[in-house]
Amino acid sequence: MPEALLLRDLDVRVGGLTLVHSVSLSLQPGESVALLGHSGSGKSLTAAAITGGLSRMLDATGELVLDGTAVDVGSSLRPAGCVAAVQQDSSNALNPLVRVARQLEVPLRRRGLQGRQLHDRAAELLDACSIDDPHRVLRSYPAELSGGQRQRACIALALACEAKVLVADEPTTALDVVSQAQVLDTLAAARERAGLALLFITHDLAAASQICDRAVVLQNGRIVEQGTFRALVDAPQHPYTRELVDLVRSQSMVGTRLRKETAA
Ligand SMILES: Nc1ncnc2c1ncn2[C@@H]1O[C@H](COP(=O)(O)OP(=O)(O)O)[C@@H](O)[C@H]1O
Ligand SMILES: [Mg+2]
Repeated sequence: MPEALLLRDLDVRVGGLTLVHSVSLSLQPGESVALLGHSGSGKSLTAAAITGGLSRMLDATGELVLDGTAVDVGSSLRPAGCVAAVQQDSSNALNPLVRVARQLEVPLRRRGLQGRQLHDRAAELLDACSIDDPHRVLRSYPAELSGGQRQRACIALALACEAKVLVADEPTTALDVVSQAQVLDTLAAARERAGLALLFITHDLAAASQICDRAVVLQNGRIVEQGTFRALVDAPQHPYTRELVDLVRSQSMVGTRLRKETAA
C-alpha cells in the first residue's frame, strides 16, 4: 500500500528568503502525526504546501505524493478526494452563505448519491462527528453553529470527500477546553472510521499526545527533532522539545495540585 502522504525536501521561499527548509514527512494510511512548533515555525506553510493553499507570492519546491499520485507542490490543484483541511478558523473553511447540508452534499453528489440519500448520508456523517441534532445543524448556516460544531462539521466534510489525508492546522487552538476535547475525540474517531492519515498541527504537546502516534518538531522552518511521544517525553534532545515537555509537566503539576486542593 502506498504512503498516504509523502513530502520530501519542501522549501518555501518568498523573495530571497527561505521560510521552510527541506521539510520531509511521511504518513501511512491510518497514521496520525503531530507537527509541533512555536508560532512562526513554519507549520501553516507546510500544511498549505500539502493542501494546495499556499499564497501565490510564495515559491515552493519539493516532492509531494498523495495516495500514490505525484502532485506539483507549487500548484493549488490537488486530485479530488486526496486531501482535506481543517483550519484554526473554521468560519473561513465553510462558506458562510450556504447551509451546512448544501456544503456536505457537494462531495456526496460527486460520489453518485441523490435525493433522500444525500440528506441521510450528510446527517449520518454529522452524527459520526458527534454533532447533536444533525438535522437541525444541516438546516443551519455556519454562523449559527458554535466554534466546536463548525470544526466537527469540517471533519464531516473531510469524511464526505472520502479524503485519504486530513491536515488539521491548530483545529483546537481557538476553542474552550470542552470543545477541544470533543474535536480531539472526533478527529480520533474519523481516523479510525475512515483510515484517514492525520497530520495534526499544534503547539500543544499534551493535545497531540492524546491522538497522535509520533511527532515532528519544527523550529524556524526546520525539523529539529522527531520520534514517538514516549521518546520525546522521556529524552527530548532539542531545547525547544524540552521546553514543550517542561510546559506539559508544569501544567500537569497544577492539575495535580488542584485535584488535591479540591479533595481536601
Ligand atoms: N505570505 C507570506 N509572506 C512572507 N512571509 C510569510 C508568509 N506567510 C508566512 N510567512 C512567514 O513564515 C514564517 C512561518 O509562518 P507559518 O507557517 O504561518 O508559522 P506557524 O503556522 O508555525 O505559526 C513566519 O515567520 C511568517 O511570518
Ligand atoms: Mg499557523
